[in-house]
Amino acid sequence: MKNLLVTGGAGFIGSNFVHYMLERYNYKLVVFDKLTYAGRMENLDRVASNPNFRFVQGDICELEAVRAVVREHQIDTIVNFAAETHVDRSILGPFEFTETNIRGTQVLLEVAREQQLERFHHISTDEVYGAIPAPNRSKEGDPLEPRSPYSASKAGAEHLVYAYFVTYGLPVTTTRGSNNIGPFHYPEKAVPLFTTNALDNQPLPMYGDGMQQRDYQYVEDHCEGIDVVLHKGQLGEIYNVGTGVETHNIDMARKILDLLGKPHSLITYVADRAGHDRRYALDVSKLQALGWHSRHSFDQALEKTVRWFVDNEAWWRPIKSGEYMDYYRRQYVEREGR
Ligand code: NAD
Ligand code: TYD
Repeated sequence: MKNLLVTGGAGFIGSNFVHYMLERYNYKLVVFDKLTYAGRMENLDRVASNPNFRFVQGDICELEAVRAVVREHQIDTIVNFAAETHVDRSILGPFEFTETNIRGTQVLLEVAREQQLERFHHISTDEVYGAIPAPNRSKEGDPLEPRSPYSASKAGAEHLVYAYFVTYGLPVTTTRGSNNIGPFHYPEKAVPLFTTNALDNQPLPMYGDGMQQRDYQYVEDHCEGIDVVLHKGQLGEIYNVGTGVETHNIDMARKILDLLGKPHSLITYVADRAGHDRRYALDVSKLQALGWHSRHSFDQALEKTVRWFVDNEAWWRPIKSGEYMDYYRRQYVEREGR
């Protein structure tokens, strides 16, 4: 592994992964990103002048563009973060999710096969398992029962990745991460949305009864999990990445408000998300057996995250205008009964 193509590297987790890898290894990292609303060049400012870093704007659905970047930079490894990622947007407009998440992944797989790459690593999600009733935890061999257009498209992509392993012998690995939080998290997702709304004394829109559970992990821990699988994972295998501890959304929201010294009365219950998965919960013992462990508890992860948003208003304030406000109005105004 010398030259990595990081698709979606201008997004939240991808940019954190680029920072993480450039700090630890002498690999060349080429970010290939379409720069959708979620892809931000400023997420990569810190590494812009690093000689091991390159940026190429492009769409993973375009075969010729992917082929060209792989050839030009002598890529031997693809790490595929590129995706449409927000469940609520997948409910409003599902087609883009199928296009990028499934067809785009297949384009990357085809190029990886044709160019005989050393590794194709695919970034998936715990949402492919569907809603998991307590006290169960998902293991990698469990059936996939995705229930949103987003998670269905991520499950579809995974099936293709595995099919290329079995059919063509492509050297693949996959990680299924739980909810990430941390720097550069686009403020449409719950934790950065609640944090930035709280800073502006705006309501925190809580879907349904707020008793849904998520395993919120610090993004750097997820990046380390991917690193471990890239170096020690077995080909054809899937690894869960998360803390193995779940938090109710209402408790997450209250903790954000406490950290910011804001009143709990900012929490506003709104209409639930259609098909809202009540609980995700991972068994992470398979990755732990490779020597990985999550370094941040939920409280530590949340504290670091909230502090980052307090300190980086110049990053999120401009995002919360224009396209974002159009989306926000469509998504929330009716829900809040305004
Ligand atoms: P994000 O929405 O912040 O970033 C996605 C990035 O992909 C953006 O930079 C965007 O410009 C790029 N992109 C979108 N379509 C593209 C295309 N057709 N071609 C090239 N680039 C394209 O997402 P994220 O939260 O960083 O998630 C990254 C990956 O991790 C996704 O595959 C997601 O499914 C997965 N994941 C996310 C979480 C989470 O909590 N955020 C958890 C588990 C897995
Ligand atoms: P989100 O960050 O969208 O991640 P995901 O749906 O992929 O898990 O949402 C996290 C949880 O917070 C999820 O249970 C939905 C809930 N949520 C709200 O209650 N209000 C909101 O405005 C958003 C965006 C999410």
